[in-house]
Amino acid sequence: MNYTEEDILKALSNVDDPDLRKDIVTLGMVKNIRIAGNNVAFDVELTTPACPLKDMIRNACINAVQHLVSKELTVIPNMTSRVTSKREQKEVLPGVKNIIAVASGKGGVGKSTVAVQLARSLRRAGAMVGILDADIYGPSIPTMMGLKGQHPGAEDGRMQPLVKDGLKIISIGFLVADNQAIIWRGPMASSAIRQFTTDVDWGELDYLILDLPPGTGDIHLTIAQSVPLTGAVVVTTPQEVAVADCRKAIGMFNNQHINIPILGLVENMSWFSPPELPEKKYFLFGQGGGQKLSEEFGIPLLGQIPMTENIMTASDSGIEITDVQVRESYDYLAGELARQVAIKNGMQTA
Ligand SMILES: Nc1ncnc2c1ncn2[C@@H]1O[C@H](COP(=O)(O)OP(=O)(O)O)[C@@H](O)[C@H]1O
Ligand SMILES: [Mg+2]
Repeated sequence: MNYTEEDILKALSNVDDPDLRKDIVTLGMVKNIRIAGNNVAFDVELTTPACPLKDMIRNACINAVQHLVSKELTVIPNMTSRVTSKREQKEVLPGVKNIIAVASGKGGVGKSTVAVQLARSLRRAGAMVGILDADIYGPSIPTMMGLKGQHPGAEDGRMQPLVKDGLKIISIGFLVADNQAIIWRGPMASSAIRQFTTDVDWGELDYLILDLPPGTGDIHLTIAQSVPLTGAVVVTTPQEVAVADCRKAIGMFNNQHINIPILGLVENMSWFSPPELPEKKYFLFGQGGGQKLSEEFGIPLLGQIPMTENIMTASDSGIEITDVQVRESYDYLAGELARQVAIKNGMQTA
């Protein structure tokens, strides 16, 4: 049987990326077609390693080639990725492709936990990820990453982030004794944030996750003005008081002077299932808060995270979550976030 690279490309041009709404050949995702007898292999370069559509696109490629070229072929798509970026201004954080702030209206809704678990999930998928703890007055990243009491080093006059479980991490908690930053005035806190973006050697990263303080204050303004954010993720719990505070946070990002895109919402502590009754869901904080906000503002609800003891103990002891099902719920969330980032970036690569 005779067939060429052209035939393969033509067949693959029937496979669409559903998010980018174009076919994968036009999008430039198909690379390195190799033909050896009845074997056809090629690379499909996705916009993120955390792409939730990976298996779907792989199967569509196999089907397209077998249907349109020949059923006799063994088709071997090799799914790779290169994270896209739409950053233009590169004075700050030049090697970082996407900067994502995790925000909330209220404290205690699980913002830091979501920030850490999103970072861990994106890393597990294969991305290069950092965490910048921007909660100057209440840094919890050192505890949640098991790095309490450690200090970053310096190289060539630049602060080096600590590295744990493949993540690069900076927090005010690494620089000052417990509670010392709490009494800082706004300008000092803002200057710490600026230093974390300008004086830290972050190197190359696909995603830098910023754990913001709760609410809408000085630090948020500093970040909005000095950090080129790709967008923000807003965390809420289902209950009305949290939802009401979230409206204020969303209002701040939407404000014409700030104008930061909201990539999606996360509903945390959505329900509790006792270990002895895993099928039963108790809605301790009510139901539907995330969905309501999503509809009200036209922002996607990226996912819901249940309340589990494992999340709390893993956060307190700075280790990975061991419960596979819980870890999968964060992986899902990270996939949906990466997807929103990729959609926002279109196909313009940095
Ligand atoms: N889904 C969850 N299940 C159980 N405990 C959680 C969950 N999310 C957060 N927590 C716990 O709730 C507390 C507050 O979470 P945290 O992430 O520090 O909130 P925030 O950063 O919004 O103040 C922490 O002790 C954390 O371990
Ligand atoms: Mg926090």
